[in-house]
Amino acid sequence: MYFDLANLGGKLSYKLLSSTVVPRPIAWVTTRSDHGHLNAAPFSFFNVFSGEPPVACLGIGEGIHGPKDTVNNLRANGELVINLVSESNVVSMNITATAFESEIDELEEAGLATVASTHVAPPRIAASPASFECRVREIIPLGTANHLILVNVLAAHIIDEAITDVDRCRIDASRLDLVGRMESPGWYVRTRDRFMLKQQVKPLRDA
Ligand SMILES: Cc1cc2nc3c(=O)[nH]c(=O)nc-3n(C[C@H](O)[C@H](O)[C@H](O)COP(=O)(O)O)c2cc1C
Repeated sequence: MYFDLANLGGKLSYKLLSSTVVPRPIAWVTTRSDHGHLNAAPFSFFNVFSGEPPVACLGIGEGIHGPKDTVNNLRANGELVINLVSESNVVSMNITATAFESEIDELEEAGLATVASTHVAPPRIAASPASFECRVREIIPLGTANHLILVNVLAAHIIDEAITDVDRCRIDASRLDLVGRMESPGWYVRTRDRFMLKQQVKPLRDA
């Protein structure tokens, strides 16, 4: 089937793209408002894009009553922690996706303990297997309602069990037990079913 996105409109384009570009990693983002309210929400329009400089990216849409709290907080002070989501986190992650009023702390609603960060004011989520302290690099508006948010990654906290060689930053990602987002209305995938395929460095004819 052929789809011309010029004729689909935003809602259907979103559905088509977010249901096919899968699985997507989930950034479980903690921020703090300038009034001191903590906020947590998951975003699967997320990935990392560069090691030098270390940069990650989030895609955040419009909320029911205007910009989402995460966008407002990032505009106000630019500080966030990106926590990754393991299977044991999925129920609490889902609670934090609820459109609560901005003064409601989703971390409290979901019964989540936090740990103070080193570089930024928002804390990380204690139960997450990997968290990244970040600062906004650039907020790029997309159309009238969406935002592409580039962030500099300042520090990482990763559970010891997943680290196989600390000096070489070698990680056994299967021990993070992360989940990915699939299509609507709420499908997810585990990351346990993996296989090895080493990249060919030289063209085969030179081997
Ligand atoms: C797994 C998952 C992934 C999500 N990914 C996104 C996303 O990439 N972009 C987005 O705008 N909303 C996404 N949402 C919805 C937000 O989490 C939701 O709108 C949340 O209430 C925003 O919270 P905030 O207003 O506290 O920032 C996602 C929800 C779930 C459950």
